[in-house]
Amino acid sequence: MAVFITFEGLDGAGKGTQLKLLLEYLKQKGVPHIFTREPGGTPMAERIRGIVLDPAHAGMSVISEALLFAAARADHVNNVIRPALESGQNVICDRYVDSSMVYQAFAGGLPLEFVAGINEMATGGLKPHRTIMLDIPPEVARSRRGVNGPDRIEEMDEWYHEQVRQGYLELAAAEPRRFKVIDASGSVEQVQERIRMLVDEVLPRR
Ligand code: TYD
Repeated sequence: MAVFITFEGLDGAGKGTQLKLLLEYLKQKGVPHIFTREPGGTPMAERIRGIVLDPAHAGMSVISEALLFAAARADHVNNVIRPALESGQNVICDRYVDSSMVYQAFAGGLPLEFVAGINEMATGGLKPHRTIMLDIPPEVARSRRGVNGPDRIEEMDEWYHEQVRQGYLELAAAEPRRFKVIDASGSVEQVQERIRMLVDEVLPRR
């Protein structure tokens, strides 16, 4: 059985760099896998991504956000993630349901049961075997964010990002076997080593 592994963290935690290194490692080892991301991963979901992250939509309500992320996710799970897993490809995904739980529920204020419920419907209950969260303080994340202008969600204030982080830590405490938190303020190499260990632990033996 192939495994489904997701990555989470504040924008600026270094997910991009670490994922790139992880993909090189998997390729070297000859592990069959695909890499994908949310919001996005299918043509329809990428269009929804454009809508939901567009700074021009500054007044978007959090409920619209949650429903749009879930709509994109349904398409992504049905057309990419599930078929890949069924064909024996391991799936590495940048963000998944936990992002909606922390950004739209913990930080955004929607009831947790509501966000969990729409995502249960959207994914048909598909859960990651492992989730790895790269943890850094919000002020460090902010200073690391790229040179491209901030997207609509990155523009939210410090308080919002602190809530996001706390949300992640609560999810990790609730499901410690699935959800692993890594201190991402270490060196790129240290963080990568820890990620590879956590990934190797769940990869199917061949
Ligand atoms: P991401 O692709 O990580 O941003 P970037 O391309 O700038 O690195 O994620 C885009 C933003 O969407 C990020 O701020 C988190 C947010 N998001 C949610 O609020 N809810 C969700 O369900 C998902 C998947 C992302």
